[in-house]
Amino acid sequence: MDVLDHIFAEEAKSKRKRAYEKQIQMSGFLIKNTLDDFGFSFQPSIDKRQIDELATMCFLENGENVVSLGPPGVGKTHLASALGLVAAQRRFSTYYANCHQLIEQLKKAYFANRLPDKLRVLSNYKMLIIDEIGCLPMDIQGANLFFRFITKRYEKTSAAFTANKTFSRRNEVLANVTIAFVVLERVLHHCTVINSKGESYRLKERKEFMRQKHQIVNTLFEQGSN
Ligand SMILES: Nc1ncnc2c1ncn2[C@@H]1O[C@H](COP(=O)(O)OP(=O)(O)OP(=O)(O)O)[C@@H](O)[C@H]1O
Ligand SMILES: [Mg+2]
Repeated sequence: MDVLDHIFAEEAKSKRKRAYEKQIQMSGFLIKNTLDDFGFSFQPSIDKRQIDELATMCFLENGENVVSLGPPGVGKTHLASALGLVAAQRRFSTYYANCHQLIEQLKKAYFANRLPDKLRVLSNYKMLIIDEIGCLPMDIQGANLFFRFITKRYEKTSAAFTANKTFSRRNEVLANVTIAFVVLERVLHHCTVINSKGESYRLKERKEFMRQKHQIVNTLFEQGSN
């Protein structure tokens, strides 16, 4: 009985692992960094307890959203994707999309008379990660489609958005002021906001790289002169 128990447990474990790997492959994640990879000490403006709470996935059960705001390189995509990975691990259907690409997909579906199907597929995901809102401005058609997309999912399923514009600059993102207002109102109705205010991690890595390079050059120079 013990041997059989062990075999079944191993089989179930490997089945779960395969399902998770397939889910990740289909989800389109660019960054596969996890929450454990995130250095909270480097980004003190982020409250780890808030992220731990999100990692319980209660917000998914309640159809709530997450908005990750901040300047470039502070880990917005890292955190949103890492939460997506936790969701996938818990077997929630998860999908990562860059905002600009998502709008392009919606436009393509609209012109092919497939918009309702596309919206249905997208609204079936329990967790969506919409990355880089506001990096590129949306035209009026894009803003209309984005509004329909947000409305279809409102209070039913969750999304994690990342943006490097503050809420007060919403009009620079969406072409129409009224649409910008109603979209934001829906997104923020049930939402946790992660506000990163720190320094760019990319710059930190670059500075560290330059420091090591100077150290090596200095060592070589000293060895050469001896
Ligand atoms: N606190 C951190 N600990 C560990 N790695 C980090 C941290 N912050 C960022 N990184 C890493 O730095 C890189 C840039 O982070 P990320 O892409 O998440 O930034 P971003 O805020 O989304 O920037 P952008 O606005 O340019 O898209 C990634 O490789 C990410 O894993
Ligand atoms: Mg990003």
